[in-house]
Amino acid sequence: SAPYSLLIQHAAQVLTMVGGPPDRPLAGSDLGAWTIIENGFVACVDDKIVAVGPMAGLDAARIGPATRIVEATGCVLMPGLVECHTHLVFGGNRAHEFERKLRGETYLDILASGGGILSTVRATRAASEAELLANALHHLAGFRRYGITTLEAKSGYGLDRDTELRLVRVAREAGQRQPVRVVPTFLGAHVVPPEFKAAGPRAYVDFMLREVLSDLKGEAAFVDVFCEEGAFPLDVARYYLEQAHKMGFGLKIHAEQLHDLGGCEMAAALGATSIDHCDYLTPAAAARIAQHTQGRTVAVLLPLVPLFLRQEVYAPAREFIDNGLPVALSTDFNPGSCPSKNLWLAQSVACLKMGFTPKEALAAATLNAAWAIGQQHDCGSLEPGKRADLLVLHVPSVAEIPYWLGENPVRDVFIGGREW
Ligand code: NIG
Ligand code: FE
Repeated sequence: SAPYSLLIQHAAQVLTMVGGPPDRPLAGSDLGAWTIIENGFVACVDDKIVAVGPMAGLDAARIGPATRIVEATGCVLMPGLVECHTHLVFGGNRAHEFERKLRGETYLDILASGGGILSTVRATRAASEAELLANALHHLAGFRRYGITTLEAKSGYGLDRDTELRLVRVAREAGQRQPVRVVPTFLGAHVVPPEFKAAGPRAYVDFMLREVLSDLKGEAAFVDVFCEEGAFPLDVARYYLEQAHKMGFGLKIHAEQLHDLGGCEMAAALGATSIDHCDYLTPAAAARIAQHTQGRTVAVLLPLVPLFLRQEVYAPAREFIDNGLPVALSTDFNPGSCPSKNLWLAQSVACLKMGFTPKEALAAATLNAAWAIGQQHDCGSLEPGKRADLLVLHVPSVAEIPYWLGENPVRDVFIGGREW
């Protein structure tokens, strides 16, 4: 068999994320029970992982003159982070609303006054495609430094046909111009744009279904909708997702962020790949979702959002996990509710405010995040056959990862077997 092209060895801990059933995301006690290998290695041929194990099991015969050897003594070696929910492509920013928020205006107040998402829509429509691409590439470079190797990117700041298609195109183009893999999602139903204010949310989603979704086949795997007061009501969100499903799209929803409207249960019943936010989802509803979907719909939790919105209501993740609902973690990177790319900080806040253990948080930001965007065959764990997306961290143990609050523990980033 071929000599190794890359060998990372002598890692203090290798975090495999392996140990649960292979055909579904990690849930319940499996979430924190995956295997840690002490004094271990990962070996790769070209862009794929081919062997993972303790140093005692290393096949020295496969080390050749062309093998790149990286020493990870005293370090954690783990899969690249998977960022499964971002609004990567947008114009401008919302620094001007930060002080309004500090004075006490809420997220939905600012939106109702024509600001919030609508203010980013104006800035995004006014930006050129080249500017949007440059911004997206800047943010992707930041994500890469935090060890993110695969990232989902939603549209949703165009809210008209041309701009929404442009945002999906920019996300795909950005994915091709640098090493971080980009998975685009269509969030044309983010809020109702001014042009449809009189006609209403149902007329707007009919327009999206009629005029836009057919042009997205093969361009975006998922269709997402924001189900919330001031955005899309439950019945319209259901109708839209049902139609999108018939057209062959995978489904996602922003739901139970600020109120309990039943969006998560509705989307899960339609077979949604993920249900996102969930701060107001009850543990009882989470248990029903886990049962009805047989643990296949992932709840994507976004702990930096309540922090940044000064909301102080965090998803009851401990209960979700104990009730068998698979959970993932993400930043929700966007200009309004989370201008941070620090998925390590998100893990720390998940431990501090949502009841995660450090091991659970790591699985939620890798393997379960990969499931949440349909990338579980390619990434999220250290297993032969998966892409060689690997991180060497300058900490020696899992316990120190969420402990160094706000720090970036990344020493080296490998994507597809190459260092970046
Ligand atoms: O996931 N909640 C809706 N959408 C985004 C925020 C978008 C924005 O405020 O610009 C979110 O939090
Ligand atoms: Fe979001």
